[in-house]
Amino acid sequence: MAIIALVGNKGGAGKTTLCVNLASGLNKLAPTVILDADPQRSSLQWRQLSDDSDGVSVQDAVDDLATTVFTASKVYTHLVIDCPPSVHAEQTAQALERADLALIPVQPSPLDLWATVHIEGKVDEARRVNPDLRAILVINQLEPRTTLSKLMREALAELSLPTARTAIRRRMAFRSAVLEGRTVLDLGSRGKPAADEIRALIKEVVKR
Ligand SMILES: Nc1ncnc2c1ncn2[C@@H]1O[C@H](COP(=O)(O)OP(=O)(O)OP(=O)(O)O)[C@@H](O)[C@H]1O
Ligand SMILES: [Mg+2]
Repeated sequence: MAIIALVGNKGGAGKTTLCVNLASGLNKLAPTVILDADPQRSSLQWRQLSDDSDGVSVQDAVDDLATTVFTASKVYTHLVIDCPPSVHAEQTAQALERADLALIPVQPSPLDLWATVHIEGKVDEARRVNPDLRAILVINQLEPRTTLSKLMREALAELSLPTARTAIRRRMAFRSAVLEGRTVLDLGSRGKPAADEIRALIKEVVKR
């Protein structure tokens, strides 16, 4: 079983986008559930748009993440937690205390980089009670030809947390899939480049 938390300290970094796509990819390998711990409840909204009865299920975990994790871990192989956009939120702390892996999406922008620095401290804090917690930064919305994107990897290397080799590019497929309550894995050839990135990220960071 793996508990994966999408965490961050900045709105709009891509937590929910990566959460629903990674969870759907994992669900094709083993039973997976999304626990929505963000009061915005975006993952739940995404699920409500979908008419796919075989799709990954989403549970509301905003008010009691501890109990929801405990109950879901008896049923599902993978739990993917969508956290609020702040490391100071109670839900983020609770998720970090229980997760095997924290994935931290970061956009190629200095403001996002600065917000990420606060996460290192929270990960260290969580490791006092959850010593095996792995935490990995994931570059999201990469635009390969821009100088900022190139500089980003060097800048992230200065942080104590590792950065995934797999970066997720800015692609329309990630936006349009959400509109349809789907994921890039369900879009066929239209979503192939995005789906390949999601599968590569799963292969790289999720231990099997
Ligand atoms: N790789 C990508 N390519 C294109 N658009 C993206 C990508 N990742 C995220 N987006 C878009 O960026 C916006 C913010 O993404 P998302 O809602 O996943 O971030 P978030 O971290 O969950 O935000 P919040 O902190 O508000 O919960 C959305 O409009 C989403 O569709
Ligand atoms: Mg979100």
